[in-house]
Amino acid sequence: MIEKNIEIPVRIFSFQELPNSYQELIEQAKEQTRKAYAPYSKFQVGAAVLLDDGTIVCGSNQENAAYPSGLCAERVAMFSANALYPDKKVKALAIAAFTDGGFLQTPITPCGACRQVLLETESRFGQELEIIMYGEKEIYLIKKASHLLPLNFSNKNLFK
Ligand code: THU
Repeated sequence: MIEKNIEIPVRIFSFQELPNSYQELIEQAKEQTRKAYAPYSKFQVGAAVLLDDGTIVCGSNQENAAYPSGLCAERVAMFSANALYPDKKVKALAIAAFTDGGFLQTPITPCGACRQVLLETESRFGQELEIIMYGEKEIYLIKKASHLLPLNFSNKNLFK
């Protein structure tokens, strides 16, 4: 038997340490939390997608009385970006979450289903997709979506 540990590199930043383009992306994600439709969870998530040419596409979580019919902010933003600009590569995604009158102290991290969608986007455009997870105390940066989903199932697994 062999046991292996899979490690992923997480870089932790303060807001001031980030480049201007990422500060702007976070501001957009924070702003988007105000547009969330989250009457059930009262957990408002905002996401901002940065495309290669500098275009930013935003989204927020959209809930439904039939709970599973709702969608996370990350997928709303990513699917919008891919639908509006199918030929523009995706460079980065920033997310932020607001609840109980304030932003989360610790970084908000994408759910499993969103990670799978981010992985697809990364492989679709053949380019690393950086994930920026905002928290009031600290911000996590992960260089590529595949790092968020070790031992993943991707299009590579569809063939023998
Ligand atoms: N949610 C997101 O939009 N993104 C995440 O990364 C985690 C969860 C949403 C789904 C639901 O509307 C609410 O937050 C509570 O789970």
